[in-house]
This record gives sequence, C-alpha cells and structure tokens, in this order.
Amino acid sequence: MDKDTCINMNDKRADKNSTSARSTSSEKAHATIIFSLKKEVGALAKALKYSQDKQVNIVPVESCKSRQENSDFEIDLDSDSSPEPLKEMSQHLKLADLSDNATLPHDDMVDEIWFPKKISDLDLSANRIITIDYELKSDHPGFTDDSYHERRKYFNDLAISYKHGNPIPRVDFTEEEVRTWGVVFREVSKVHPTHACKEFLNSFSLLIKYCNYRDDTMPQLEDISNFLKERSGFILRPVAGFLSSRDFLAGLAFRVFHCTQYMRHSSNCLFTPEPDTCHELLGHIPMLTDPCFAEFSQEIGLASLGASDDDIKKLAHCYVFTVEFGLCKQEGKLKAFGAGLLSSVRELKYAMSDEAHTEPFEPVVTCIRDYAVDTFQDVYYISDSFEDATTKMREFAKTMRRPFTISYNPYTQSVDILRDSSDIGRLVKNIQHELDIVEDALSRLAKVNI
Ligand SMILES: [Fe+2]
Repeated sequence: MDKDTCINMNDKRADKNSTSARSTSSEKAHATIIFSLKKEVGALAKALKYSQDKQVNIVPVESCKSRQENSDFEIDLDSDSSPEPLKEMSQHLKLADLSDNATLPHDDMVDEIWFPKKISDLDLSANRIITIDYELKSDHPGFTDDSYHERRKYFNDLAISYKHGNPIPRVDFTEEEVRTWGVVFREVSKVHPTHACKEFLNSFSLLIKYCNYRDDTMPQLEDISNFLKERSGFILRPVAGFLSSRDFLAGLAFRVFHCTQYMRHSSNCLFTPEPDTCHELLGHIPMLTDPCFAEFSQEIGLASLGASDDDIKKLAHCYVFTVEFGLCKQEGKLKAFGAGLLSSVRELKYAMSDEAHTEPFEPVVTCIRDYAVDTFQDVYYISDSFEDATTKMREFAKTMRRPFTISYNPYTQSVDILRDSSDIGRLVKNIQHELDIVEDALSRLAKVNI
C-alpha cells in the first residue's frame, strides 16, 4: 500500500454484516402493516373486512403473541399493492378503536435493527470486531516481528476487557514506540501550521499544554479522554480493531470515539495500513476537541441509529469524505480538517495541491461517491464551515427512510425515540424549560440595564 495513513472504517465487509431491516419497498408494490388488535370479539374480522372494502389485496396474514397489555395478538398483514391503502387502513383501525398502534410501512425498522439506546449499551457492540488487529496480514510491516505480534495482542486484550465507565488503562510504552511516535509527531507538526484549519491548530496548542503532547513521550488516552470531555463532551473508548460502520457511527451518537491504542510498526514510521494511535491522536483528537466539530460528528452518529444498511453506507461515505479527508476554506485559503490528511504528510500535501480534484461538500452527492482505501482519494470535498456541514447533514438525515426521530438526552447520555405525540410532548416540555431559563436570564438582564 502506498499510503501512510488509514481510515477507521475502510472494511466494506463490515456493512454486509449489519442486521437488515424488513424490506417493504414501494418500488416492488409491496407493503406491510403490523398492529395489535384490542381484545374484542370479531376485531380481526372487522379489520379484514375493511381491507376487502378498500380492495387491499392481502397476501399472507400472520399473527404472534402481542407485547401490548390490552391485546392478545399482533397481526402482520402483507399486501401486494402500494403502501397508500395500508396507510389509510392504519388510520381506520385507530379511528374505529380496533387498534391504537397500527404501524405504517417501515415503522417496524426500530424493532428489527438493534442500536444502542444509552451510552453503556456500547459495551454490547464495541467488541464486534470485523478484523482482529493483532492477527496481522502477510503484507503488514510487522508481520514477521514476533515481539510486535505480542504487543498487539496486549493492546487487543486491554480493549476487549474495557467496559464503559472504567478508566482507560495507562500503558507503559516502549522506547521504540515512543521513538516512532516522535518521528510522526515531528513530521506532521512541520506541515500543520500551513495546512491545518484554525480549529485544529487551536486545539493542538491546548493538547500540548494539557495532555502532554510532545515528541518524547506518549500521551495517555485516559488523560486525553478527560480533557475532551471538558472541552466538547466527547470521550474515548479503546477498541481492538475495525468495527462495522454501523457500530462505529453509533459511538459518535453518544459522543464516544472508538480509539486504537497500539502503535504502528517502527520499520516504517510514516506508514500504517490501519488506523493506529498516531493517526487517532494526531488526526482525530484535535478536531474532536472543537465543540462545533464534535456536534457535526455526533450528527452523523445520531442519523445512523436504526438506519437501513443502505443509509449506513451513505453516512459512512459522508463520514470518510469529511471527518477523514475533509477540507474547508478559511480566509480564502484551503485548509484541512480530515484526520486521514492531518496525520499523513504526503496525502495532506497532495490534497491541497493543484493535482487534487475538489468539490463542494453536498451529502446527497458525497454519500454515493466511492472512496479509496489504499491510494489517495479521487476527490476531496470542501465544506464552508462545520456549522454549514452540520446543517447539511441534518437536512440529509431528514431524507433518510427512518420511521422515527431521535433526540439525544445529554443528562442521561441516552437517546429518546420520538414515535408518537406523547414522546414529542415530553421533548417540548424539556424545550419549554430551557426557554424559561432564557426568558429568566433576559428579564434579569433587562432589570440590570434599567
Ligand atoms: Fe480515522
């Protein structure tokens, strides 16, 4: 591989392992409705009579034990027509008081695709590793080095035994590892002042001051994680290898960054075929320190929760072309904010040269663009600002076929799924409370200024 850095999510096999949602595509003129019938004599007959009156051609009818208290069975109707008649039917069932939970086509995805609902749920997915990193491939620089294999096994064991809430284990890095870190640190530090965006440079100076960022010692993940939490609310979680795009992005929803802790092989300090701690610490961490960038990253993560496999793929492509290889314009000059660029001198220089092809970041276009894994990218995307990129991602997320909205609750570090009016009512109540605080602050300010 002619590439001196690597991205976190370049294993496309990962997406194939994701759980599939039920396919209820309108393009195949096929739709599904699921509802619990209330305990009432003849309720199923009434529901089926309605479908007959509306000429909805029901193909199979299935029933299973209901999870609702006021119902014995859940009914699953498949129709070979478009979803529209079933939408009408779901409304009719509610109006006729036969059911109060008829779900429209696609509404069932939330039950079919598991995703973490609270931050500690990441314990259930963080070890679903696609590749075990210490099992190196034959073309890996450390493949013939037994002591390197041993070391990778050590880092692997640290990561898989980690649980949310634990301190991240401190590591005694070897002299060789610190030397390797020093080489990379010095090389990228030469180009950052001219090529990195201002947010990155500002954060990097803070990391030097507060997190022991220097070329002769290895910063510890635990210290960095604590610092990040104070600055942007992000924390780190050690990871043993590649996660699927779904599992990796889910971490971002809770402001958790899955972070490798092992060092690349010392035989070629400026090359790694996989993400390593140099890539994370010198590429990702400074950007995650910035609150606006943290919000942008979380936006992608929240959009991924419960999304279909197709949408996960689109989000992963947006992630790669921004968080890994993103560029932005600042004071009329092109600057980098992507971690894959900022931890790789060669690609950073290339991406900002006249040779590279650039386009404005538009999620709807970027999401279908393939990215390169072992060469430089064919195209690099430019964002006006992180705020602008966040707005675009938010709008893009609204176009995704997800039957519910997700709201992040920072107090409990969990997500609220908004599916009905009572869920929305609770959210409005919280917003009302925030507005009351603003109103109170404004009225106090007004009194002071009188
Ligand atoms: Fe990365």
